[in-house]
Amino acid sequence: MPPMPLVWCALDVPDARRARALARTLSGLPVGLKVGLELVYATGPALVRELAADRPVLLDAKLHDIPQTVARAAVAIARLGATAVTAHALGGGEMLARARASLAAAAAEAGLRPPLLLAVTILTSHSEEDLARLGWDRAPADAAVHLARLAVEAGADGVVCAPTEVAAVRAAVGAGPLLVTPGVRPAAVAGDDQRRTATPAAAIAAGADSLVVGRPVTAAPDPRAAAQAVLAAARAAAGGETA
Ligand code: C5P
Repeated sequence: MPPMPLVWCALDVPDARRARALARTLSGLPVGLKVGLELVYATGPALVRELAADRPVLLDAKLHDIPQTVARAAVAIARLGATAVTAHALGGGEMLARARASLAAAAAEAGLRPPLLLAVTILTSHSEEDLARLGWDRAPADAAVHLARLAVEAGADGVVCAPTEVAAVRAAVGAGPLLVTPGVRPAAVAGDDQRRTATPAAAIAAGADSLVVGRPVTAAPDPRAAAQAVLAAARAAAGGETA
């Protein structure tokens, strides 16, 4: 498997100029770059290829469609050189299995390493009440564990889940799959849309392999210092040296 950085910074910015500026601000730090829906629709996927030339890129594509459509999208995605790509576990086992197979086949044809397939369980912005409104009468942690098992059985390399669910998901899927957690907050943030959050240290201590951090870095007065602080806390919790 390609190595996963301990911390991914979400480049949630509206254009390539700002994305490149943020990437430069973080250059030299061992953080990966996450490209999500806002940036990929604003710039086109060529920016993924450009950024991936220098450092690990997580393409947060959040794929969720019929298996055939996702499998064909995965062929195009595999050629971009990203380290990892996300799909919604709610798309089901067949969709995930076909995505994984397409990523492997298309990457091999292009002479690239296949991106890791990470299955998104329950969005970290959803509370238990939100799930109830969607007709899910399960606690977010139960739903996340259920979807994580399904995703891993379908061949996903890892799972995206809330930091508050990492321990339960790890217990359910075992040591092998990668667990990636957004909803990471160094300190409480007022008026935030994230509902199931934890500090970087708590997320790593609970068993996460890597963290996704957006606004705590991008909206900080000094994004590089903020990223370094997250990295230091994550490394300390992972038992490594601090940055
Ligand atoms: O700014 P913030 O730290 O909340 O950013 C979190 C990032 O992780 C966003 O880019 C969001 O799209 C992404 N994400 C998430 N919850 C998931 C999967 C991805 O918040 N389940």
